[in-house]
Amino acid sequence: MSTPALPPSLSDAELKLLQALVYQECGMHFDARRAHFLEDRLQRRLRECQLDSFYSYYRLLISSDGKQELARLLENLTINETSFFRNKAQLDLFHKFILEEILQRKQARRDFSLRVWSAGCSTGQEPYTMAMLISDALAYYYLRNPLPTANVSPRPLVPPPWKVEVMASDISYSVLRAGQEGAYNESQMSSVDYSYRLRYFDKVGDRYAVKKAVKEIVHFDFHNLKTEYLPQRNDVIFCRNVMMYFDEPEQKRLVDKFYRCLNPGGYLFVGHAESLLGLTDKFAMIHRNNGTAYQRVEVNV
Ligand SMILES: C[S@@+](CC[C@H](N)C(=O)[O-])C[C@H]1O[C@@H](n2cnc3c(N)ncnc32)[C@H](O)[C@@H]1O
Repeated sequence: MSTPALPPSLSDAELKLLQALVYQECGMHFDARRAHFLEDRLQRRLRECQLDSFYSYYRLLISSDGKQELARLLENLTINETSFFRNKAQLDLFHKFILEEILQRKQARRDFSLRVWSAGCSTGQEPYTMAMLISDALAYYYLRNPLPTANVSPRPLVPPPWKVEVMASDISYSVLRAGQEGAYNESQMSSVDYSYRLRYFDKVGDRYAVKKAVKEIVHFDFHNLKTEYLPQRNDVIFCRNVMMYFDEPEQKRLVDKFYRCLNPGGYLFVGHAESLLGLTDKFAMIHRNNGTAYQRVEVNV
């Protein structure tokens, strides 16, 4: 009986080459603590490509034929954990104070556009949460500040003349496809209460499908946060639980890009375990009832 071939081992030199390539491509930093995870995912890709050394795999990745495999590797390295209504305190701050402030400020200028970007949106729960909260905030806002054109019946999710766009981006095509599909099982819906299920989802078989009107607000697109070509003119950016996979220089570069991608006075939300402390002086921290956000400060850049 033949002994199954041992998987090739990853030398320090190969690890360094592959670490540097991944970092250069997407900003994810696999330090000593996370090298094991990287090695495990590389082993899987190596088997899949039927290659017998990490160096040949590296050569494939940097070759002109290797673009697809590189995308696949990056996809295998991402952590896509997410949920609806993640970090309630932060969402309360967004919903009750920040949206209110933006709507008032914009209406005073007769600017009826609102643009929110979920950067690193995973399977869509974050951008759909934003779309639901914005719809609620607009409905409530109009109860108190009716516009002459607001008497349309039935009332649309986004009352005219407002235009709302939630841009949802990620580096992984498979999560973008899941987000676009917008259908979630019972366990993914555990943090969605009855009133939200009723208003914003249709029950289809054993899944909950996001209603068409909500889907029309959310646009999914591929964007790699490592690059400079990112969605501009946002009023709010959510980039939660993404920066934690980058090292400090990359986090600084990303925060600078977010500054440029925000409208004056715009807001940035980062994850519960993340902070802008020590990364920038171009944002002011807002902390209310355990929720934290950062507002763009107008400085000469
Ligand atoms: C842990 S999930 C966070 C999802 C959501 N923001 C949340 O907090 O629930 C991190 C997401 O960031 C994405 N990501 C990682 N590096 C990225 C990059 N360079 N550009 C764009 N997205 C990236 C991953 O694919 C993953 O879907």
